[in-house]
Amino acid sequence: MSEMTRRSFLSTAWKVGFGLLAAAGVVTTFDLLKPHLAAGFDAIVRTVAPDAVPTTGVLEVRDARGYLVKVDDDVLAFSEVCTHLGCRVPYVDENGRFECPCHGSKFTREGDYIEGPAPRGMDEYATEVVDGVIEIDTTEVIAGPAPGSERT
Ligand code: FES
Repeated sequence: MSEMTRRSFLSTAWKVGFGLLAAAGVVTTFDLLKPHLAAGFDAIVRTVAPDAVPTTGVLEVRDARGYLVKVDDDVLAFSEVCTHLGCRVPYVDENGRFECPCHGSKFTREGDYIEGPAPRGMDEYATEVVDGVIEIDTTEVIAGPAPGSERT
């Protein structure tokens, strides 16, 4: 391979590699912000029977963009949208809490504020058991409690 050909090959390889890295960054960023961009979606989402919600951890409900969490005898439905700037907040099994990857807000498994720039706990959706199945009403968001306040 001549010097020019090798140089040309390496230049092209760097450009392709950088392009793939940039594309991965765009896809990752979009995935993090997607719930924010899709705010205002409007659906009643049928999920599972109350007994199917685990007593530890959470049950992710992608169609509702949220989580079902069993707390004592109640089942709460949380929005996955961070109350700070709208990033998707994952549940971290190792810590037993929700942790926002964008600016570090943290919430208990019960959706209460722990720390970070979020102004309140995780927002909630109303639920109803219909024909033995939990339905999540995503048409209206119930604002999470202020730090130090009780969830009602
Ligand atoms: S968007 Fe979650 S902490 Fe900023």
